[in-house]
Amino acid sequence: MSGEKPILEIKDLTFTYAGAETPALKNINLQIFEGEYVALLGLNGSGKTTLQLCINAVIPHMIMGDMEGSVTVQDLDTAEYPTRELAKIVGVVFDNPEFQLSQMSVAEEIALGLENLGVAVEEMNPIIHEVLDIVGLSGLGDRSPFELSGGQQQRLSIAAALAMRPQILVMDEPTSNVDPIGKEEVFAVAAKLNRERKMTVIMAEHEVEVMAAYANRIIVMDHGEVILNGTPTEVFSQLDVLEKAGLRVPQVTEMAYRLEHDRSAHWNSVYPVTTEEAFQRIAPLFGGKHD
Ligand SMILES: Nc1ncnc2c1ncn2[C@@H]1O[C@H](COP(=O)(O)OP(=O)(O)O)[C@@H](O)[C@H]1O
Ligand SMILES: [Mg+2]
Repeated sequence: MSGEKPILEIKDLTFTYAGAETPALKNINLQIFEGEYVALLGLNGSGKTTLQLCINAVIPHMIMGDMEGSVTVQDLDTAEYPTRELAKIVGVVFDNPEFQLSQMSVAEEIALGLENLGVAVEEMNPIIHEVLDIVGLSGLGDRSPFELSGGQQQRLSIAAALAMRPQILVMDEPTSNVDPIGKEEVFAVAAKLNRERKMTVIMAEHEVEVMAAYANRIIVMDHGEVILNGTPTEVFSQLDVLEKAGLRVPQVTEMAYRLEHDRSAHWNSVYPVTTEEAFQRIAPLFGGKHD
């Protein structure tokens, strides 16, 4: 992607919460490009949420602390632009849907953000209709958000974020409070937005199998630092580094690694990260039908 301009650039970012002794983020340098799907992995406390709060400019404007370095979103330095301005570029979905929902109806939930942007009432309906359609909630505009399932609530949060027409969608463990079916729904909507609308997605998420399948880039954080940054294949091949950071790799990668060490299988240190990939590489060993 050389030559292309990053949609998000983080330079030498160090952030220490007011009153804290050690920085929550240490010397982070990252470039993220339009249309990427980036997964943030790391143990609790490794700095994922803090990094996301820097991307949507809640840090440094609304949280006290000491920030060094810079965060630039679409050429805007977040230190110089108010969070309100950045909210048009960066949409955010948090882990707990109930904290994000406050209105009497699904439609009003989306209208709230539009009102804040100064969108005229008569222009709201088509936008509400469109974003509910994108997340698969068409026809539920009159429902109370609190009657929705967890997966539907998170999709409503995504719809509310989309109504602002953001270019980047930041999602902080969006499925951690959602049942398995709801998780699938949320992942599917994020993947659709990324693939069909070139939405840049930055998602903190523990589900490594899912991230291996959807993300084009994995960023691993440990004690406030980025310790790995690459494609799923590059990152999940570093089993030793991940294990030291207390993280697991996809099960299929673990199996490939063990086959190499116990059975002298040769992957040339490039392990499969999805079942499909493993199948493509292993199936020929078993003979049978050929394409
Ligand atoms: N509001 C806060 N005030 C002080 N320290 C905080 C605050 N929020 C998070 N931290 C600390 O910053 C570090 C990173 O936390 P966080 O960004 O929440 O990590 P993660 O999202 O990966 O769990 C942790 O050591 C955490 O205790
Ligand atoms: Mg967090």
